[in-house]
Amino acid sequence: MKHAPFLHQERKRSSGQSEQVKDFSVFDFNYIPEEPLLRDEGKLLIKEMVRFETTGIATHQAVLGAKGSGKTLKVRYLETLINAETRLNVIYANCRRHNTSFKIFAHFLGIQPRGLSMSELYNRFCQKHQVKTVVVLDEIDLMSPKDKRRDILYFLSRSERPYMVIMLSNNYRVLHELDDSTMSSLQPKTICFRHYDAHQIQAILQDRAK
Ligand SMILES: Nc1ncnc2c1ncn2[C@@H]1O[C@H](COP(=O)(O)OP(=O)(O)O)[C@@H](O)[C@H]1O
Ligand SMILES: [Mg+2]
Repeated sequence: MKHAPFLHQERKRSSGQSEQVKDFSVFDFNYIPEEPLLRDEGKLLIKEMVRFETTGIATHQAVLGAKGSGKTLKVRYLETLINAETRLNVIYANCRRHNTSFKIFAHFLGIQPRGLSMSELYNRFCQKHQVKTVVVLDEIDLMSPKDKRRDILYFLSRSERPYMVIMLSNNYRVLHELDDSTMSSLQPKTICFRHYDAHQIQAILQDRAK
């Protein structure tokens, strides 16, 4: 079969399939259910953020757990919920995509990082974020070796402003890689995301199928 007829046949077959599926977005890796399962892990995160809202004192969090344990989904869901329901401002960056402190600050500022020093970027960040802000850094273990000290953690944890860091990682070693001065100001609490058990997976799949 020549290419064009094959293409036409495939398009017809594919659109036939699409009639059987009401909503393809449920197959997307980034799909966020309207009401994801509420587990102790998520409750702890909510408690910590509410305490931060009330006191203005940040306890930084290291959210650790195997790939697929729902870390990203949960923080992205909470980002929307907390921004809507509280006075906190929650912002999110994926450190695989923005893999140095420069790039992360620039991403939050919506600018190019070129030509600015780290402290200039940080000062602009402070100007922009004057209210209590939760800074979520996903896949923190994937920051570039060029930024071995992960300076952004140092700046945010030493800040006089009310900033709370929530860093996510599949890799438990990431905490040992931080230098002493960052660790001493960050002092992160650890929240471990467990694997879903069979019943939870069943509930998730049923919800998705619905
Ligand atoms: N509670 C949940 N309800 C529905 N889907 C979920 C849930 N937890 C995880 N998933 C799905 O499983 C996949 C992996 O979850 P993810 O949050 O990316 O895990 P992690 O960030 O811990 O590696 C994603 O596609 C996500 O949509
Ligand atoms: Mg993830």
